[in-house]
Amino acid sequence: MNKQVITFCVSILIVLDSGYAENNDPLIFSTNDCELTEPVYGEKFNLKALHSDIAKVVKGGKNDTFEYNICGSLGRACNGDNNASACLRRGNQEFVLGTQHQLNYRRGKMYFEFSNGAKCASGDGEFKLFVFLGCDYTLDAKQSKVTLYSANACKFYISLETPYACLPEPETVKSSGCSVQDPVTGHNYDLLALSDFNYRTSDRHGNIFTVNICKPVLYGEMAMCPKASSVCLVKLNSTDYKKRFVDYGTVQPNPILENGNLLMRLPSPTPYNATHNYSSTIHFICDNEIKSSQLSFIGAKENVYDFSFTTPLACNNNPPCTTITHGNEVLDMRSLQGKTYELSMPLKNYTFGICSNAGQPCLSNDGSCLVENQQTTSMGRSNSQLRSDRSGSPYLLYTDGALCDGQNKWSTRIEFVCANNATKDNGTANGNGDSNALGPKIIENKNCQLLIHFQTPLACHEQIACKVKAYVEHSEDGTGEEVVDLTPLISATYNYEAEINNALITGQQVPKSTKFFLNVCRPLVPKFGLGCPGGSAACMAKVDSSSATPEEEKSLGFPMASLVAYNRTVAELRYLRGSICPTDNKTELSASIKFNCDMSAGLGKPILQTITDCLYEFQWMTNVICPSHMCTFNEETCEIINDDINFHYELKKAPFTDAGQIKIPNGKDEFKLNICGNHRKAETDYSQGLVNLFFTTEAPCGNANVQLRLICSGDSKRVINYDNAGKECNLVVHQSTPDICKFLRRAVPPPTAPDSGVSSTVATPTTTTTTKSSTAAPAGGVDNGGAHPAEQTGSIGAILAAILSLTCFVACLGVFAFSPERRNSVRRLFRRTTSAVRYSRVQSNEEANLLLETNGEFTDSDDELLL
Ligand SMILES: *[C@@H]1O[C@H](CO)[C@@H](O)[C@H](O)[C@H]1NC(C)=O
Ligand SMILES: *[C@@H]1O[C@H](CO)[C@@H](O)[C@H](O)[C@H]1NC(C)=O
Ligand SMILES: *[C@@H]1O[C@H](CO)[C@@H](O)[C@H](O)[C@H]1NC(C)=O
Ligand SMILES: *[C@@H]1O[C@H](CO)[C@@H](O)[C@H](O)[C@H]1NC(C)=O
Ligand SMILES: *[C@@H]1O[C@H](CO)[C@@H](O)[C@H](O)[C@H]1NC(C)=O
Ligand SMILES: *[C@@H]1O[C@H](CO)[C@@H](O)[C@H](O)[C@H]1NC(C)=O
Ligand SMILES: *[C@@H]1O[C@H](CO)[C@@H](O)[C@H](O)[C@H]1NC(C)=O
Ligand SMILES: *[C@@H]1O[C@H](CO)[C@@H](O)[C@H](O)[C@H]1NC(C)=O
Ligand SMILES: *[C@@H]1O[C@H](CO)[C@@H](O)[C@H](O)[C@H]1NC(C)=O
Ligand SMILES: *[C@@H]1O[C@H](CO)[C@@H](O)[C@H](O)[C@H]1NC(C)=O
Repeated sequence: MNKQVITFCVSILIVLDSGYAENNDPLIFSTNDCELTEPVYGEKFNLKALHSDIAKVVKGGKNDTFEYNICGSLGRACNGDNNASACLRRGNQEFVLGTQHQLNYRRGKMYFEFSNGAKCASGDGEFKLFVFLGCDYTLDAKQSKVTLYSANACKFYISLETPYACLPEPETVKSSGCSVQDPVTGHNYDLLALSDFNYRTSDRHGNIFTVNICKPVLYGEMAMCPKASSVCLVKLNSTDYKKRFVDYGTVQPNPILENGNLLMRLPSPTPYNATHNYSSTIHFICDNEIKSSQLSFIGAKENVYDFSFTTPLACNNNPPCTTITHGNEVLDMRSLQGKTYELSMPLKNYTFGICSNAGQPCLSNDGSCLVENQQTTSMGRSNSQLRSDRSGSPYLLYTDGALCDGQNKWSTRIEFVCANNATKDNGTANGNGDSNALGPKIIENKNCQLLIHFQTPLACHEQIACKVKAYVEHSEDGTGEEVVDLTPLISATYNYEAEINNALITGQQVPKSTKFFLNVCRPLVPKFGLGCPGGSAACMAKVDSSSATPEEEKSLGFPMASLVAYNRTVAELRYLRGSICPTDNKTELSASIKFNCDMSAGLGKPILQTITDCLYEFQWMTNVICPSHMCTFNEETCEIINDDINFHYELKKAPFTDAGQIKIPNGKDEFKLNICGNHRKAETDYSQGLVNLFFTTEAPCGNANVQLRLICSGDSKRVINYDNAGKECNLVVHQSTPDICKFLRRAVPPPTAPDSGVSSTVATPTTTTTTKSSTAAPAGGVDNGGAHPAEQTGSIGAILAAILSLTCFVACLGVFAFSPERRNSVRRLFRRTTSAVRYSRVQSNEEANLLLETNGEFTDSDDELLL
């Protein structure tokens, strides 16, 4: 309800024309029942449980409310039709969206397609509703979301996340925690926020691992992993779909601390030989600067597979009652701490505290309790672990309350909802106008969980998604999905100045004195003299040689719609609702930035290519959007080589090594790690600006798997995670260095460390050592012009918007899958633009209406009507 995260509905037409004819594919089928048998494991997905007596209600655009039920009718008439199972209320009109539905299964993806709807006046067919099911083991308050649609749309797409779309969860992980407390520092490491997404990494032999942290791999398209498997090997070559997904690690309820190292051991039931099974170990490594949590496969030792998972959640220096969201924004609820909050319901009162004990009348350790008939019941123990869910919204979870139904214990979930003047909700829930009051509100008290929404401006950091999933239908590797992450391009210090295509200048569409400034996914960085409307992400201004400061500033739009990935290497960002268009006063200016992968481009820079009507289109060649590249390693010269762009990096001469060797402290001793040698695998990660080197070495603990991360940075800094405790023998070295930047075609970022030449040791896990020395950034990097140091951003998982755009995308696929007429009608809907990929939207002056209500809301929860 607080989300300003909005997504374009994008359809990729090119991939739709093929591959749907064969209906003897056992992984593609439909049923009129309300349950289906999962084809790989024979598990039943019983979706009848999604039926409820009161229909699900979701707010769509301005005047629209969607009501739908699964596996049965609405329970009320829609426009006089008692048989309706989906209904659209638009102002005071009602439209039947369907009276029945079909359940479709497509390679792990499940969706309901409603049919027999009313005629759609603006199209040549009927209204239609698609409800996509996504696996989610944690019951979020907001389960249904509507994908953005145009004013004249006839087809609507709703995503519904539910545990009923998951394979069954083992009892051991059903609790809603996934944490471990450090007995020494008292710090609580909570990794549950990582469970909202699956993570992937290559095994460097043509297969991939799909991994979930704290929960089994979320079942879905191309993620049909065995029940209870958290580490799942996907054999991309396997034609037998029953053998394609292999369990390499069974889900574990909590991480563990071993000798100060945070890790998770996951045994599996998959036999390795007669006596041993495969098993996996995930090593969590703290990095407060990382732009996104990253999974890497370090290597295998016989039957044990080692992974590193680099994330800020493994750090122990975040203050309590704060959390880091995607975008590396810190949300801080400490100002709400230490107060007692009370919520009354008829005959019962709830009392709770924020990040602290609730106080009287609750018991001493209770974060929340219920008083009813003079009896006090614990609703969960307090903690100060502020978490953030997949959309970056912060919440608190108090578990371990009193027994609730004889089996489960009560818990309390307090979700913080952004409330400010832009998002205020005007009394839709109870009609008496006070629903927009700041502060707490009970949303639900069933399923052994008390759910409270706490409206506060402190939660308003939510911004559009700059990391999204790209769905590639017939991708080379057949995995279907990859993530496009442009958060490294978000600038915190500079605005990018666009170049202008010469044709625009010679054609006199743009005066020479006009300059264009923009940021990526975020508003412009405020600069003196650049007086664009606050919050604009793109701006044009006249900059004469006569006047020092820009004049006649015009906004080219605001960051209101999330990044849209067309495929793994092309994505588009749109900024909307800018200043009034000079040539058409009914239209607002808007901008589009198209990002393309070019490994040799570095961060790159935007170029204004065309101006059509009131839309300014920029193109941005960058390697930030490029997929990882497996490099060649020359063992003789100790060089990393990117053959595609013919770039070399001489590791042997690297300034952080001593002729290719680095010293690794080992207790009071040290040993030399030889970076050069045989069987090195080097892989670029352009998105994060680093090169990973994987190899094995003889270390004091035996044969060690080594991951060396060479991170392009203005600082020279080394963080060593040498885990030689117990049977472990792994070495993960984070080496920040300006030296690698050139190989990645990046300019060297300015140094962040003010200290000079000091070596320091960080007191994180016992075996971690940090050495830091400041290095003056060499002038003139490869990448100049527009290459600004990007803001450090961190993404804990992927993002709501990705789900939305996925929904639409697959929905569009669904539409195309069945009838050529429909395919044509959707084509017509898209005909306004000429590129292969189109927005399912209408003219730019209508865009604004489609996107946001005046109060900044887009979708709303179906749960508000429950109470
Ligand atoms: C509702 O369904 C019943 C039987 O299923 C049918 O007889 C009736 O005509 C339907 N009503 C409408 C308004 O379509
Ligand atoms: C919303 O409904 C009102 C009254 O029913 C109508 O005047 C207005 O035009 C509608 N707005 C949209 C965007 O449909
Ligand atoms: C997959 O198949 C391709 C071509 O058929 C082959 O080159 C590759 O080695 C195979 N990969 C694996 C992991 O078997
Ligand atoms: C290996 O997995 C099987 C189940 O497939 C289990 O019965 C057995 O105990 C496991 N063996 C070991 C050594 O963990
Ligand atoms: C199975 O593999 C383990 C680990 O590599 C090894 O220690 C053991 O001897 C092997 N057992 C057999 C029967 O090969
Ligand atoms: C709940 O709190 C209100 C106000 O504090 C009080 O008047 C009422 O008696 C309480 N109800 C119960 C059931 O304790
Ligand atoms: C919201 O509006 C009120 C009244 O116009 C104003 O006093 C307040 O400062 C505004 N709050 C924010 C966060 O803009
Ligand atoms: C809705 O919000 C606006 C601005 O915040 C306010 O002026 C108006 O009175 C509110 N309406 C209701 C019904 O609360
Ligand atoms: C990605 O899409 C663009 C057009 O939208 C196309 O030119 C390009 O070939 C596509 N790339 C891949 C890898 O499919
Ligand atoms: C828009 O332009 C038309 C004619 O060019 C003019 O009549 C009208 O008043 C203008 N509207 C606004 C809001 O400026």
